[in-house]
Amino acid sequence: MRSCYLQFLLLLLELLSCNATKLGFSFDLRINSEVKCIEEERQALLQFKQHLVDPSPLSSWNSGEDCCKWEGIKCSNKTGHVVTLDLQGKQVEGEISSSLLELQYLTHLDLSSNNFFGKSFPNFVGSLAKLQHLDLSFTHIVGTIPQQLGNLSGLIYLDLSYNFDLMEAHDLDWLIHLQSLTHLDMTSVNLSQVLNWPNKVMMLPSLIYLSLSDCGLSTMTHQLRSSANSSSQLLLLNLSFNHLNCSIFHWLFNSSTSLVHLSLSYNLLQCSIPEAFGSINSLQTLDLGGNQLVGRSIPKSFGNLCALELFCLEDNNLSGNLYEFMSNVSGCLVDSLQFFEISSNRFTGPLPESIGNFSNLVNLGLGGNNFTGPLPESFGNLSNLEMLNVSGNSLTGVISEAHFSNLFKLKRLFLGLNSLILKFNYDWIPPFQLSVISLSSCRLGLAFPKWLQSQKHYAILEISNAGISDIIPAWFWDVPVELIDLDMSHNQLHGNLPDLSSSRFGYYVVIDLSSNQLNGSIPCFPSDVASLYLSNNSFSGNISFICEFTYQSLFLLDLSNNKLSGELPDCWMHVYGLINLNLANNNFYGKISHSMGSLVSLEFLHLSNNSFVGNLPSSLQNCSYLTTIDMGENNLSGMVPSWIGDSLPRLTILSLRSNGFYGSLPLNLCHLSNIQLLDLSLNKIGGTIPQCIKNLTSMSQKWRASHNGIYSVQRAYADHAPFVWKGRMAMFENSLGLVKIIDLSSNKLHGEVPEELTSLTELISLNLSRNNFTGSITLKIGLLQNLQSLDLSRNQLRGEIPTSISDISFLSYLDLSNNNLSGKIPTGTQLQSLNASAFMGNPELCGSPLPNKCPEDLYPICNDTRTCKNVDNQENVDDGLITQGFYVAMALGFVVGFWGVCCSLLLNLRYITMRLISNARMMLR
Ligand SMILES: *[C@@H]1O[C@H](CO)[C@@H](O)[C@H](O)[C@H]1NC(C)=O
Ligand SMILES: *[C@@H]1O[C@H](CO)[C@@H](O)[C@H](O)[C@H]1NC(C)=O
Ligand SMILES: *[C@@H]1O[C@H](CO)[C@@H](O)[C@H](O)[C@H]1NC(C)=O
Ligand SMILES: *[C@@H]1O[C@H](CO)[C@@H](O)[C@H](O)[C@H]1NC(C)=O
Ligand SMILES: *[C@@H]1O[C@H](CO)[C@@H](O)[C@H](O)[C@H]1NC(C)=O
Ligand SMILES: *[C@@H]1O[C@H](CO)[C@@H](O)[C@H](O)[C@H]1NC(C)=O
Ligand SMILES: *[C@@H]1O[C@H](CO)[C@@H](O)[C@H](O)[C@H]1NC(C)=O
Repeated sequence: MRSCYLQFLLLLLELLSCNATKLGFSFDLRINSEVKCIEEERQALLQFKQHLVDPSPLSSWNSGEDCCKWEGIKCSNKTGHVVTLDLQGKQVEGEISSSLLELQYLTHLDLSSNNFFGKSFPNFVGSLAKLQHLDLSFTHIVGTIPQQLGNLSGLIYLDLSYNFDLMEAHDLDWLIHLQSLTHLDMTSVNLSQVLNWPNKVMMLPSLIYLSLSDCGLSTMTHQLRSSANSSSQLLLLNLSFNHLNCSIFHWLFNSSTSLVHLSLSYNLLQCSIPEAFGSINSLQTLDLGGNQLVGRSIPKSFGNLCALELFCLEDNNLSGNLYEFMSNVSGCLVDSLQFFEISSNRFTGPLPESIGNFSNLVNLGLGGNNFTGPLPESFGNLSNLEMLNVSGNSLTGVISEAHFSNLFKLKRLFLGLNSLILKFNYDWIPPFQLSVISLSSCRLGLAFPKWLQSQKHYAILEISNAGISDIIPAWFWDVPVELIDLDMSHNQLHGNLPDLSSSRFGYYVVIDLSSNQLNGSIPCFPSDVASLYLSNNSFSGNISFICEFTYQSLFLLDLSNNKLSGELPDCWMHVYGLINLNLANNNFYGKISHSMGSLVSLEFLHLSNNSFVGNLPSSLQNCSYLTTIDMGENNLSGMVPSWIGDSLPRLTILSLRSNGFYGSLPLNLCHLSNIQLLDLSLNKIGGTIPQCIKNLTSMSQKWRASHNGIYSVQRAYADHAPFVWKGRMAMFENSLGLVKIIDLSSNKLHGEVPEELTSLTELISLNLSRNNFTGSITLKIGLLQNLQSLDLSRNQLRGEIPTSISDISFLSYLDLSNNNLSGKIPTGTQLQSLNASAFMGNPELCGSPLPNKCPEDLYPICNDTRTCKNVDNQENVDDGLITQGFYVAMALGFVVGFWGVCCSLLLNLRYITMRLISNARMMLR
């Protein structure tokens, strides 16, 4: 994703650093040792230094010295005036002192890449009348760009980019005075309030380089009347990351016909690729990625673009097959194109053999489409190819050595997520040295791929789910020092791992060997591993290897689903950088070590399904970033600690299910306002449910994408925990934001279920079964509109089932069995579609779906034979019809006295009203 845009940025860098003269911004910087600096200017500079937080970056600025020799200063060799102040990236911090106003002969001012955090725009620069070059990019300055910049009529180069809180609130009228400006970069300056911006910038006769990326620009048709007499010289135009629609094209083709580099990526373009591009035959770079462009072909006119080297269309809605798409491309474009990127579109069909004619291709991105069929052997002709990405398609067939015979320069190879078979001779030595090898879910054969032995410099190796069933050969562990991502998961790798502590992986390597058949003990790994996924193997023994870690780079350790055992080592401080620790489903025993409290960055802690004993160590209070505590299925005991509620405010998942916790629920638990899964089932917890349960507010709030707007991969990976869902064990991953669950079943809780529980309206599952709750089911139960699963079975609940239960439209699992509920199960609701077992064990409960009829159904409660017979008959014929007639009658107010005494339903006015409304609706249909 966004590989094109990266490429475009690289290009800009290249243009700026190597090719600056070509774009017309070079300066004759004169230095002469004989001219001494002017005292007033020296004082001004010293004053500037004084306003910095830490003057050490300017240590060469000493009061005794000639300021013309100071770092970053250049003086005119005629007059001795300071002409250049260049502090780019000197890491100065603090205020920009207006003392610089004294430097009236300054032509070049560069304060970029320093930290003037939150300081407002240094308006005084508008009075440095001789300025030609002003660079305030990456300075963190804020506020409004002043109109006074219009006074700098000699300005050639202006860069205000990447100051995210900088804003041009009014207009760009000041720009018109900058008739010499050749370079203007306002990337990330908020220009959303500026009307008619396109014409303002087009008035600048000398402008060559214009970047208005991420400026909040939109196209309104009235803005886009092309400025007829503008003769734009623009060579580079970057309008990426705005809100522009296709009307921008009209303006563009009318105003700039000599563009060389154009990016409109990540806008709102929804049309097909315009024919008119063919008239800009100077184009070398065209980046239209990240839009919603449609269509099945490139316009014929593109054949004229003999200079086009980079053509990006990634991340659009283009469709059709590549034959159609490329059919108009002929002649010179075939020879000029070097970078062709159409990943993440909707292309289908086979890949044409003719792709092999694009002999100068360096980057070819076809990933994330739905191409079918084999990879043509003509790919082997692309002898300049450095990057080939066909991953995530529906390609089939065999890839052989022939495909790669001439790809001497290939560096990055993405074939994964297809149904490709890779078949090479055992001794094949590829002609290339790859840095990225991404082959996940390709069939690589049973044997470990020997050709990898020839590859000495890869940084990424992904061969997961590749059907390999072999030991990992010893030579493999002599890995490239560049290796930062190793994914060999989901194969049938077996055997032991050797001691890897002296293997030289790249820094912060991610190693994923999960879901294989590796066994033996877990060896030592190099100390600078960042993530270690070893889950779903057969590793055994203890995990004392963590005590060998000496750096704190390990942030993810997943050892779940193995046969590991022993007590936890008490050396968790050796890995105190851990964010995610998963030891679930092993045979660990003993106490949870106290030193686990040193994991102060820990967010995800999974220890479930082991044999841990003792209390939750109070040292876990230090782990205040914890969002997940999953300690179910152990033999832990003690009170549910009250500090959980106060020390772990971010907790989202708390599962202590199936342990030996006792005592009552601490009120502090109600402080867990982020909790989404609270599972304390299968313990010995007594007492009552506190009324403050309504304070678990995340269970009453609609799902938000996240609390801070960023849902990391890391988070998505780990947000899961096993729990009982509709009566069965389940595991929810990723979607947890939507899953809000309380399970207090199989404890010793008693008293009434507090009505406050019904304010947790986003709950989708509530399980209070197997306790000793008394009282009746609250009439407000219907407020829990999102419940899909409700289990109140095996308590001592009395009274009738509130008819409001039928308001819960998604309720698909209900168990009220084994209580003392009575009366008639509300009829005409989804309750009748449930299994009778949901209601059994309530001797006084009657009606469908239970087999026992209610007395009033068997023996109509009135003794007027005529009426009753009538009622009974009709009910037998059609329950729906009689109830409908009945309620209509009710509405007419005519049977009240008659039925009032005997019909328990009448007591529930709410039910009647509700049924009336719904029946009335049915009749109206
Ligand atoms: C300034 O000094 C440089 C080198 O010291 C020299 O090449 C240049 O001609 C001088 N310019 C003037 C205007 O004296
Ligand atoms: C600079 O611009 C401002 C407003 O645009 C103007 O009032 C002022 O006279 C100009 N000249 C100087 C030297 O500041
Ligand atoms: C840009 O400014 C407008 C108007 O002041 C504001 O509504 C908008 O949120 C700003 N955009 C960003 C990205 O800050
Ligand atoms: C890809 O194309 C194949 C065959 O044309 C089709 O069966 C399949 O549904 C498509 N897959 C997607 C994700 O569009
Ligand atoms: C629950 O929240 C209310 C206000 O929202 C607060 O007054 C009360 O103290 C809280 N209860 C507990 C036990 O934290
Ligand atoms: C349940 O509560 C009732 C009434 O409060 C009590 O008599 C009974 O002993 C309790 N049963 C259990 C198993 O705690
Ligand atoms: C209805 O009549 C029967 C006999 O016909 C009698 O046994 C019964 O008590 C009466 N029930 C009521 C509610 O009046």
